[in-house]
Amino acid sequence: MNVLVTGSSSGIGETVAKSLVEAGHQVVMMARRAEKLKALANDFNANGPGRAEAVPGDVGVWADCERAVDVGMKAFGSLDALVNAAGTWVEAPFVEVRPEALQHFIQTDVTGAAQISRAILPAFQKSGGGRLIHINGLQGFIRQRPPVLYAVVESAVRGLCESLRWEAAPLGVHVNLITLGAVANAAPETPADDVLHRDGKRYRLSRREVTDAILFMLSQPPGVNVDELILTPLDQEF
Ligand SMILES: NC(=O)c1ccc[n+]([C@@H]2O[C@H](COP(=O)([O-])OP(=O)(O)OC[C@H]3O[C@@H](n4cnc5c(N)ncnc54)[C@H](OP(=O)(O)O)[C@@H]3O)[C@@H](O)[C@H]2O)c1
Repeated sequence: MNVLVTGSSSGIGETVAKSLVEAGHQVVMMARRAEKLKALANDFNANGPGRAEAVPGDVGVWADCERAVDVGMKAFGSLDALVNAAGTWVEAPFVEVRPEALQHFIQTDVTGAAQISRAILPAFQKSGGGRLIHINGLQGFIRQRPPVLYAVVESAVRGLCESLRWEAAPLGVHVNLITLGAVANAAPETPADDVLHRDGKRYRLSRREVTDAILFMLSQPPGVNVDELILTPLDQEF
């Protein structure tokens, strides 16, 4: 499989890219921190058996999205899937959010998700199909009082996936969404128990657990769409 993984310089995207290379797949790695991205790709290539190609870039910039797809097509001949793990966040109450932070959040998580999806679709069309996987958070459901900007961004990503699914199906393109509770994204991929538990309760997922769920989505046969997979730590209360 040839997979474009955005946000692969750290966190969930890094573990997804590493796991794919370990399983013998080809990966285009995209994120903004060029040196870190290249060092990781070199590491993964040293261990193989798959291959990683680092393409530094910003999903909020259309030309960078096009370049990542072009490099993947030239390097591997086709692209079969996108895992869009590029993302940022802004915790502040809406009334206090700086306009630049607001714009950057939407540019990365909403414009970025739409642009990278749009950029890769022609490559999928060429090979008769493909699979888009976007990552979301629970705030997209607005089940309880959420941070406002999270609700804005995650509702938009949900809207993108749920609407694009209809347009993409006749092209053989599967549109998958994975919605996550809290993830220990900065901890090792399989961290110590106390990183995932608080007061004896499970409140975070590990990167490994999230990656295994994404690999499950990627492993589905053509014609099987995982519309949405919701993964939460059992005792998460927020
Ligand atoms: N962690 C959680 O609890 C949690 C929960 C629910 C959903 N999620 C979602 O999961 C996804 C991955 O998050 P994570 O927890 O793995 O976060 P992370 O550890 O901060 O990783 C985010 C990745 O995205 C990249 N990135 C940020 N802005 C980018 C841009 N404009 N263009 C390209 N790459 C960009 C970052 O690399 P560079 O800085 O090098 O660009 C980094 O590799 C995000 O969409 C996040 O919203 C996370």
